[in-house]
Amino acid sequence: MDKKQAQEKINELRKLLNQYGYEYHVLDQPSVPDAEYDEKLNELQKLEEQFPELITEDSPTQRVGGEPLEGFEKVQHRVPMLSLGNAFNEQDVRDFARRASQGVDGDISFVCELKIDGLAVSLTYENGKFVRGATRGDGTTGEDITSNLKTIRSIPLSLKEPETIEVRGEAFMPHKSFLKLNEERLANEEEPFANPRNVAAGSLRQLDPKIAAKRNLDIFLYAVGEWENSDVTTHSGRLERLKELGFKTNPEWRKCSTVEEVMEFVEYWTKERPNLNYEIDGIVIKVDSLNQQEELGFTAKSPRWAIAYKFPAEEAMTRLKEIELSVGRTGVVTPTAILDPVRIAGSTVQRATLHNEDLIREQDLRIGDTVVIKKAGDIIPKVVRVVEEKRTGEEKEFHMPDECPACGSELVRLEGEVALRCMNPSCPAQLMEGLIHFVSRNAMNIDGLGEKVIIQLFQEELIHTIADLYRLEREELLKLERMGEKSVDNLLKAIEASKENSLERLLFGLGIRFIGAKAAKTLAMEFETMEKLQNATYEEIIAIDEIGEKMADAIAQYFQEEKVKDLLEELAELGINMEYKGPKKAEAADEDHVFAGKTVVLTGKMESYTRSEAKELIEALGGSVTGSVSKKTDFLIAGEDAGSKYEKAQKLGVTIWDEQQLKEALGSVSP
Ligand code: IVH
Repeated sequence: MDKKQAQEKINELRKLLNQYGYEYHVLDQPSVPDAEYDEKLNELQKLEEQFPELITEDSPTQRVGGEPLEGFEKVQHRVPMLSLGNAFNEQDVRDFARRASQGVDGDISFVCELKIDGLAVSLTYENGKFVRGATRGDGTTGEDITSNLKTIRSIPLSLKEPETIEVRGEAFMPHKSFLKLNEERLANEEEPFANPRNVAAGSLRQLDPKIAAKRNLDIFLYAVGEWENSDVTTHSGRLERLKELGFKTNPEWRKCSTVEEVMEFVEYWTKERPNLNYEIDGIVIKVDSLNQQEELGFTAKSPRWAIAYKFPAEEAMTRLKEIELSVGRTGVVTPTAILDPVRIAGSTVQRATLHNEDLIREQDLRIGDTVVIKKAGDIIPKVVRVVEEKRTGEEKEFHMPDECPACGSELVRLEGEVALRCMNPSCPAQLMEGLIHFVSRNAMNIDGLGEKVIIQLFQEELIHTIADLYRLEREELLKLERMGEKSVDNLLKAIEASKENSLERLLFGLGIRFIGAKAAKTLAMEFETMEKLQNATYEEIIAIDEIGEKMADAIAQYFQEEKVKDLLEELAELGINMEYKGPKKAEAADEDHVFAGKTVVLTGKMESYTRSEAKELIEALGGSVTGSVSKKTDFLIAGEDAGSKYEKAQKLGVTIWDEQQLKEALGSVSP
C-alpha cells in the first residue's frame, strides 16, 4: 500500500471509529458489537505504525497519550469560570425567579438541568479540533489536563463541524464504574475510595494519563465560555447545538416558564435521584435567553441569571466518641467531634466541627451521646442535635481547658467573642496553621506542600516560620518520609516559583485578620508595593472603597508589629517579590480618559476584541461596563449586528460609537 492509499484508508477508518465511538459513548446506543470496533481500531493502529507521519492528534488511537507529565501547566480562563449561588427551598427559588424577571425586559423563561456532582472542566476546540482541556482551578487560573481529558471517550477529539469554541461541563465517574473500581480495590486489599467525585477529581489530576484512562470517566457539557461566530440566542438552543456538534449533553433538561414548573422538575428529581447512574447534588436553574442573561450580569462570585437548588442534606445517626481540640492560625481553639464512622451523602464521616463551647452547651452535647449529623451544603459534617432518648446516664459533660493544648499558654476570651484564643504568637500550632494557609491555593499557591508535608517539616524542626520555607535544602528534604528525588525537586521548584508571585498573594498569605483574597487584591492594586502599604496611614487605608474600619485597623496594627517588620525584611532578602504585577490601578486612575467614571454598554460583534476583552480594557481605564442601556449609560459601543440595545440607546440619546471609535479611544492598550 502506498502512502496515498494509506491516507485514504486511515481517513475512512477514523471516520468510522469516530462514529462508533460517538454512538457508544455519547448516545449510549452502540450500532456494532465491541469486537468490530476493536478490529477497526487495530487496523488503524497498524497503518499508523507503518506510516507514523500520518498520525494526527485527533486520531482515535491517540486517546491515551505517551509519557507521564512532569507537572501541569497553568491555563488562564479568558472568561472566568464562576460558581453559582445556592437555593435551599422553594422560597429561595421564587426569590431568584422574581429578581430575574424584574431585572429584564419582556417575558422570561428558565431551563432546569441536573447539577452533576463531579469536577468542572473547560474544553477548547479550534476549527473543530480539541486543543486544550483545563480544570476550573480558582475560576481564573486552572490546570492543563488535556491528556487526561482525552482519555474520556465521550469527549470528541474532533467536532462534526469546524467550530472554534470553549465549552464547559462536569467530568464525573458513573456509579457503575465506581462500584466496579472499589470491588477491584477490595479484592487487591486496597482501601476503597470514599465517593465517585473524589475519584473523578483525583484521576484527572494524575500526571500519568494511563490512570485516568482506566477509570471510565464520563462528561456532560452544560455551558459555553467563548464561541466564535455563534448566532444561537438561548441557552436551550446552545444545548441543542452542542449536541449537534457531537458533545455529550445531559438529556434531562426542561424549559420552564413558571416557578411551578421549575418546582415540579425539582420535586421529580428529588425522588428519581437514586435511579440515576451518576451522582447529582441539586438542580441548576438558568435564564434561557442569552440577551436576558447579559442584562442580568454577574455579582462578584456568580451570575444573576442562574442558581443552584441544593437537595436537602441527608441525615445520619452516630455516637460522639470524644471531643478533640485544635488551635487555628489565629489562635482560636476549636473543638471537633470525633464520631463513630458513618456513611452519609456519599462518604464516610468521622469528624465534625463543634465551633465553640457555647454551641456545645446550647445543644447540651455530652461525650458518649448519640447524635444526628448532616452535611451542610453536602460537604461539611455538622452535628444537628442530640438524641436524648438514647442517653444511658454514662455520658460525660465537656469543658474547655484553661490552657492551650499545643503550647500551654493561658486561653483568653476576647471581649465580644465566643471563641477562646491562645495569645502566644510563637505557639507552634498557630505557626503551623499559618504556614498551611500561606502555601494554599489562593495565597502563595505552592504545589506539593500539603498539610502532611508541612506537619512533617515542623516535626523535624526544619521550619519554624514562613521565611524558613525559602531556606529549605534538598538534602534535608530527601531525608523526610515519602519524599523521593522527584517530589523534592518539584517542591523546590514550586517554592522558588512562588517568589515571583504578585503582591496580593503574599498579602493574603500572611494571614492578616479580616484580609481575605479580595481585600488583599484591592490593597495590592492600590499601594502597588509592600513598602507603600507598610508606610500607609490608617486614613489612607480607610479611604479605599472596599476597605472597612475593621480591616483598616487590623492592617495598621499588623504592620506596626516588630516581628512583622522583621519577617518582611527577611522575605525581601530571600528574594520574595513585594510588588503588584496585575493590571495597573494607575491606568484606571487616568482621570482624563474618556471612559474614566463612565458607564459603557457593549453590543454586537467586534472584530478585534471579544466582549470580555473590551470590558476588561474599558474597566482598566476607569469605566464600568454594564449589561443594559438606561438613562445612566454614557456610551454604547455597537459592533456588527447590534440589535435592540442600539435602538434603545438612540431613543435615549446615548452616545453611540462603532468599533473603530472604540479602538481609537483605547489607544495603545491591547487585550
Ligand atoms: S452552570 C456560571 N450547570 O456546579 C455558572 N453548573 O456552583 C456555570 N455544575 O461550578 C455553571 N452541573 O461545576 C452549571 N448543569 C450544570 C451543572 C453545573 C454541575 C457545577 C459546576 C459549577 C457548580 C456551580
